[in-house]
Amino acid sequence: MSTKNFTKSEKSPDESHAEVIIRMFPSDANPAGNVFGGEILKHIDMVAGIVAQRHSQSNAVTVSMDSVNFIKPVYVGNVLKLNARINYVHNSSMEIEVKAEAEDIVTGIRTITGTAFVTFVALDKNGKPTPVPKLMLKTDEDRTKFEEGKFRMQERLNHRQKA
Ligand SMILES: CC(C)(COP(=O)(O)OP(=O)(O)OC[C@H]1O[C@@H](n2cnc3c(N)ncnc32)[C@H](O)[C@@H]1OP(=O)(O)O)[C@@H](O)C(=O)NCCC(=O)NCCS
Repeated sequence: MSTKNFTKSEKSPDESHAEVIIRMFPSDANPAGNVFGGEILKHIDMVAGIVAQRHSQSNAVTVSMDSVNFIKPVYVGNVLKLNARINYVHNSSMEIEVKAEAEDIVTGIRTITGTAFVTFVALDKNGKPTPVPKLMLKTDEDRTKFEEGKFRMQERLNHRQKA
C-alpha cells in the first residue's frame, strides 16, 4: 500500500458529513407509480461517495453496499433528504451510514424511508488502495458508531467474495 501526505492525519465525522435534498419526479417512478428503489440507491451511493472523498481527499470507490432497508415508500413529488456520515475507517476502507427521509412538502410530514451502509476504498493515482486519515472520535455517539462499524466491517470481510 502506498503512503500519502494528508492535510490532516485525523478528521472528525462532522468534517465529512453530507446531506443532499432531491425532488422526486415521475421519471424516477417504478411501474406501480412510486419511486424506484434503484433510483434511491443511486443517490445513496452518490452522497456516501461525497463523504468518503471528503474524508480521504482522494478518489474513493464503492466496494460494498449492505443492510439496505426500504422501510416506507417514497412518492413522486416527495422531497428526498439523504443524510450521510462516516462511522468507521480501517486503512483504506471507510464505512458510511446513510439515512433517507421523505418529505411531503404540501403537508410538511416527514418520514424515515430507508437506511444503508456503504463501504468505500480510497485509491491513489495508480488505482491502488491508499491510507485515509484516522477518525477523530469526539462524542459518545462517534465512539459507539465506530465500534459498531468495526464489528460490521469484520462481518463484511468474513463474507467477502474474492475475484
Ligand atoms: C477497490 C479495489 C481496488 C480493492 O482491491 P482489493 O484487491 O480488494 O484490495 P485489498 O484486498 O488490498 O483491500 C483493500 C481494502 O479494501 C477493503 N475491501 C475490499 N473489498 C471489500 C468489501 N467487499 N467489503 C469491505 N471492505 C472491502 C479491504 O478490507 C481493504 O481495507 P483496508 O485497507 O482498510 O484494510 C477493488 O476491489 C476494485 O477495484 N473494486 C471495484 C470498485 C468499483 O469499481 N466500484 C464501483 C462500482 S462497480
